[in-house]
Amino acid sequence: MTQRPKVTVRTLLDMKKRGEKIVVLTAYDHPTARLEDEAGVEVILVGDSVGNVVLGYETTIPVTVDEMVHHLKAVTRARPQALVVGDLPFMSYQAAPEDAVRSAGRLVKEGGAEAVKVEGARRIEAPVRAIIDAAIPVMGHVGLTPQSVNQFGGYRVQGREAPDGERVLDDARFLEEAGCFALVVEGVPWQLAQRITAAVGIPTIGIGAGPHCDGQVLVVNDLLGIDARFTPRFVKRYAEVGATMSRAFAEFASDVKAGKFPDIDHSYSSD
Ligand code: KIV
Repeated sequence: MTQRPKVTVRTLLDMKKRGEKIVVLTAYDHPTARLEDEAGVEVILVGDSVGNVVLGYETTIPVTVDEMVHHLKAVTRARPQALVVGDLPFMSYQAAPEDAVRSAGRLVKEGGAEAVKVEGARRIEAPVRAIIDAAIPVMGHVGLTPQSVNQFGGYRVQGREAPDGERVLDDARFLEEAGCFALVVEGVPWQLAQRITAAVGIPTIGIGAGPHCDGQVLVVNDLLGIDARFTPRFVKRYAEVGATMSRAFAEFASDVKAGKFPDIDHSYSSD
């Protein structure tokens, strides 16, 4: 089987120009990265959502650079043709450009990321420019930025009211001007996401932002239905993996208790 060409930041820009949709999924481990890559996903995002969906944190705020490096290594060992983007976790880039370059450098050098993602706009101008100056491509993230959950007072749709919407649009324009190669647009009305997509020359990747972005991203656990308790409006579940896992665990437990597993068919023989 011939391998598809490696996806780079330039591929994504060309896709936007051609009007071709960009497929992005999160992954936090090697087998998931391999399967996503085989399915033709263009960007694998090792998101700091790993904190909520894998590590059991309430928010993404406690996630550390060490944890991101650990999960990035697992993903990049799959040697995907997809572009691998690593999230810079909360407070690993905001305080000073030097911190930002060191943290981004670790995700790239140790974790194997090919780009990093940051949340915010004007208030992280110096860190963003410093990372790009260090030759590390940066993906921006505007709208509902989960690292600001405490400031937002919860996970609230952003940009519904006019001045707030203009601010999100301004953030997007600003990040393009600062040199970001793409933008995640999260948790905004679809009309605003459509305006942002038309206003910037770089690809927009929507999540909870309607159908008009240049690409779409979902958290892989949400798409697979691993935690059925979490079903926000923007998530479409393509499988019920959580229910399948629960059923399999219960059947295994019942077989072991009943002495049905292992049977001879699942045992080695000395013959
Ligand atoms: O951390 C993450 O997975 C993300 C996506 C939801 C865009 O930032």
